[in-house]
Amino acid sequence: MKITVLVENATPSSRLAACHGLSLLVETADQRILFDVGPDATLLANARALAVDIADVDAVVISHGHADHGGGLGAYLEATQGSHAPIYVREGAFMEHRSGTFERNHSISLDPVLANHPRVVRTAEHTVLGQSAELFSVERASHPAPLSNAHLFRVAEGPAGETVLMPDDFAHEQSLLVNEGGKRVLVSGCSHAGILNIMDRAEELAGAPLDVVFAGFHLMSPSLGDREEASAVESLGRELARRGATYYTFHCTGMEAFARLRDMLGDRVRYLATGSVVRV
Ligand SMILES: [Fe+2]
Ligand SMILES: [Fe+2]
Repeated sequence: MKITVLVENATPSSRLAACHGLSLLVETADQRILFDVGPDATLLANARALAVDIADVDAVVISHGHADHGGGLGAYLEATQGSHAPIYVREGAFMEHRSGTFERNHSISLDPVLANHPRVVRTAEHTVLGQSAELFSVERASHPAPLSNAHLFRVAEGPAGETVLMPDDFAHEQSLLVNEGGKRVLVSGCSHAGILNIMDRAEELAGAPLDVVFAGFHLMSPSLGDREEASAVESLGRELARRGATYYTFHCTGMEAFARLRDMLGDRVRYLATGSVVRV
């Protein structure tokens, strides 16, 4: 299995562009899966620079209904018109999502015009994608969710048909589990459900502990300046260390929290940037 980072917040390469968002190409033994498409057309330019054919994929997965992961969908669809690869989203991914406070907030939604595009397919809580890949959502939580979830909302319909702002329940989030070659690998975008809750569900589905985790841990929010308390990052670090996996993180983990995790886990946690390639 191979993972190529097509879009991430940073890059060490002058040939690639970095922006706040995420897009990964996940190649298993029998499938090429584009996991998230970043916020805009950056994916297209980076894929060209890396000689990665993003039209010839078997499936596209949108991890959740936030623009930094799915805002590039319009540009992607436009650029891959001959492709019939399904675009898997959870129900609710195209609902209006907002970031900020109850009083002051801005849209971070996907383009609602694309909700009924013929390539868009709604996934269930658990959806098998191929011989070794499956998508799943988290319905039970025994660990805390990220602090910055408190600044994320969904727009719902009130009792009188009016629009109301509700705390987001992240039912629109899904993660990818790949089980091949004796390795169980989790791929998660922003881990709004809490990385430990997502790992719990993945291990339940895999029937064994995870070997490798690729995930944003959502320990900071660049637009809001939220940061998890040092004690919360340390308690996450202790739990990640206790579990046997190797961790590759990016995007919404943030360098400050990563440095703290790195102090605790050493080489078992690594930060990926645009252009990084990892073979499992
Ligand atoms: Fe998000
Ligand atoms: Fe994100």
